[in-house]
Amino acid sequence: EKGGYEHFMLKEIFEQPQTIYDSFRGRLDVEQARLTLSGLDAIQDKLLAARRIIIVACGTSWHAGLLAEYLIEELCRVNVEVEYASEFRYRNPILDENDVIIAVSQSGETADTLVALENAKKKGATVFGIVNVVGSSIARLADAGAYTHAGPEIGVASTKAFTAQLVVLQLFALKLAQLKGTVSPERFTELVKALHAVPEQVEWILNNQLDRIKEVARKYRGARDFLFLGRGYNFPIALEGALKLKEISYIHAEGYPAAEMKHGPIALVDEHLPVVFIATKDPFYEKVVSNMQEIKARKGRLVAVVSEGDKVAETLAEDLLVVPQSDELISPLLAVIPLQLLSYYIGVELQLDVDKPRNLAKSVTVE
Ligand code: M6R
Repeated sequence: EKGGYEHFMLKEIFEQPQTIYDSFRGRLDVEQARLTLSGLDAIQDKLLAARRIIIVACGTSWHAGLLAEYLIEELCRVNVEVEYASEFRYRNPILDENDVIIAVSQSGETADTLVALENAKKKGATVFGIVNVVGSSIARLADAGAYTHAGPEIGVASTKAFTAQLVVLQLFALKLAQLKGTVSPERFTELVKALHAVPEQVEWILNNQLDRIKEVARKYRGARDFLFLGRGYNFPIALEGALKLKEISYIHAEGYPAAEMKHGPIALVDEHLPVVFIATKDPFYEKVVSNMQEIKARKGRLVAVVSEGDKVAETLAEDLLVVPQSDELISPLLAVIPLQLLSYYIGVELQLDVDKPRNLAKSVTVE
């Protein structure tokens, strides 16, 4: 059932070229630059009238939500807030029938997310679900939604469900932007094409970067702490990289916005601390490089996720994990792949139960 892979987690990481494709197949017509998201059509009026969109989720799904905040605000020019379901449900949030909530959940059974949505619905808000498990509680509760089509995810650490969530959220942002007229047809086509190229680009990473990632995993398996840094669309990816590592290897890891590190975490940096930067070619690249220099000056051990052909980060980082070049809105889908693999191989190096890490359950159905 693991299809020849040693663990479900590895199998699920390797399924991503297919699952990413499946999450836009039938929804995206690249030739015609047409996007169909019938769930969104169902609540179109509510969405167009909404003054803000609130995204509610937990864990990895919350990271997908955070990235969606950046995407939707950029493309649709509407306010977005991202909330931890566990906080949102107890905060007596100000909500009414003008609010649209996007719930993001792999299992569709996370108790905090479910109750947060029930409360929101009582106040008249409209709920759009982005869920992987068909017919799950959250899927049933939602007024409308779009499934992620990633297939069953067995590994406790979410991998393929996360990338599928990102795709569906990207489609959501693109479709809403088109309806609102906040994206030009040229930009729309550009993004649709970039998204369409992702499955093959993920395949390239899986075919070309494994040895290097295993090497980095061996090198740092004894580390006590890790820092993951990124800016802009890659800040949520830094958080996700850190969460994956914590879950799988039990190594303490923190994700931070690369520039915010100067306001505290930089005190942790010494010659023992691996610092993983996401330094892909995007408008933040120069700034990220200067953050890398700051870490290097304090003797931190630099690992960088970079775009193919990068020449600058190469001179700074001890280890490079290379991903293909993509549009800045789409490239987080690529940047997360080496980070999933890095935590997987560190877990394997440490001979841990990567599919069922201690203390964790696949879905948290208690609060
Ligand atoms: O099923 P959900 O997406 O609602 O689950 C949310 C979190 O419990 C989940 O993402 C958790 O953080 C994973 N173990 C992350 O790998």
